[in-house]
Amino acid sequence: MRKPIIAGNWKMNKTHEEAVSFIEEIKGNVPSSSEVETVVCAPALFLKEMNDKAEGSDVHVGAQTMHFEESGAFTGEISPAALKDLGITYSIIGHSERREMFNETDKSVNQKVHAAFEYGITPIMCCGESLEQRENNETEQVVREQVTKGFEGISAEKASDVVVAYEPIWAIGTGKSSSAEDADETCGTVRKVLAELYDQDTAEKVRIQYGGSVKPENIDGYMAKEHIDGALVGGASLKPDAFLKLVEAGR
Ligand code: G3P
Repeated sequence: MRKPIIAGNWKMNKTHEEAVSFIEEIKGNVPSSSEVETVVCAPALFLKEMNDKAEGSDVHVGAQTMHFEESGAFTGEISPAALKDLGITYSIIGHSERREMFNETDKSVNQKVHAAFEYGITPIMCCGESLEQRENNETEQVVREQVTKGFEGISAEKASDVVVAYEPIWAIGTGKSSSAEDADETCGTVRKVLAELYDQDTAEKVRIQYGGSVKPENIDGYMAKEHIDGALVGGASLKPDAFLKLVEAGR
């Protein structure tokens, strides 16, 4: 049985005050982490105070990206060691916006997955096809390649702790969500690729989220599917009441 994981990805939104009061508002109202894992991935500037506020609750605070090196001349980057030092135990890795706008590649995604494990951080590794790739029937091939390269050199034991977020790029922030059937089919492809790379048992342990215009009104359809174990949510994760509905749907 895979434990559902619902994660919010705030992207570049909210002020410090809004971020901290969000945690205050939700922390007493999320399901127990024995039932659902609740993660809020926020801008790096807010992580410390959010994490301090979340202490002792079932809310986990995560980063939206991190570098793979511990330290060095990487202006503006976030060190995994610094995240660890703050007690941050989740990071999104390889979001399509990072791949498209900040030159992240399958190689750097793989380096970051390795680094995450080195620093006790659970990677939420993103994959997903563009509209053009979907229209050219390349979805399976694209996702297969991203997953294969992202997991390169990761042991089976660690692989089972990676969270994979399947986010078709055309569904992100567009309101055009994938049908639950299509999303499940591609999440099933992710699982099939993992079974080929490792074994069926490992593949069955990996949690796979769907992301792309998920909201309280449509999350149940995704959660009911065989291969979908949670959601990575952008827009709808910004409001406490909507986010609480989403995590509740994870139960
Ligand atoms: O990482 C989550 C995201 O890319 C989906 O965004 O706004 O479509 O839920 P949104």
